[in-house]
Amino acid sequence: MTAKKSLGPKEILFPVPAALVASGTMGRPNLATVAWVGMMGSDPPILAISLKQTRLTLELIRKHRHFTVNIPPAGKFVEVDYCGITSGRDRDKFADCAFTPIPGTRVAVPIVDECPFNIECAVVRELQVNGHTVIFGEILEVHVDADAIDGTSPKGIDLQKIDPLVYCTTIRQYWSIGSKLGDSFCVGRRIRDRVSGNEGSPA
Ligand SMILES: Cc1cc2nc3c(=O)[nH]c(=O)nc-3n(C[C@H](O)[C@H](O)[C@H](O)COP(=O)(O)O)c2cc1C
Repeated sequence: MTAKKSLGPKEILFPVPAALVASGTMGRPNLATVAWVGMMGSDPPILAISLKQTRLTLELIRKHRHFTVNIPPAGKFVEVDYCGITSGRDRDKFADCAFTPIPGTRVAVPIVDECPFNIECAVVRELQVNGHTVIFGEILEVHVDADAIDGTSPKGIDLQKIDPLVYCTTIRQYWSIGSKLGDSFCVGRRIRDRVSGNEGSPA
């Protein structure tokens, strides 16, 4: 048996995205780093972000009812950290980080040009979880840098070209992804075939 050390109840989960959530308008956009983000539903696609009550981002999302989730490339980890330690109440984070706000196609909130993957969302629900507010957003549109489109992969996205920044909560470290290991909903068939006695049958 592997020796385990118990860490107690902690808000630790990894890896997670280190996303840049944009809020506000093209004229006055804001950015905040958000690691508590995940998919919640598929039809229609829904994601959720969890925000502390004090964030300007929460105020702006409540006001405009839209936000965008932008996945930065690993190389932008310094800018991402800055957006997570500075409030839009004090600074224009787009300007400070030399990020370019460009119009979304479905929402008035900008997306970040320097982020290769962008998701436009409309607020559909809000949930209070102690000091946090979880915002559920319906995904209205998704954008990916054209040079990260790979005609050979089934879903058309080359993750290595996107090179998304990833994060580990609690130990507070930024990482980049490694290499592809396999295709999901596929490689597990090897075990399914073995346990069901169909070993050697085509996948
Ligand atoms: C790596 C990282 C992840 C973060 N994740 C979250 C998060 O999931 N939710 C949250 O409310 N704040 C999170 N923060 C803190 C906010 O990004 C930070 O308070 C920011 O200044 C808020 O900006 P605003 O006031 O302009 O909205 C994170 C910060 C860092 C550095």
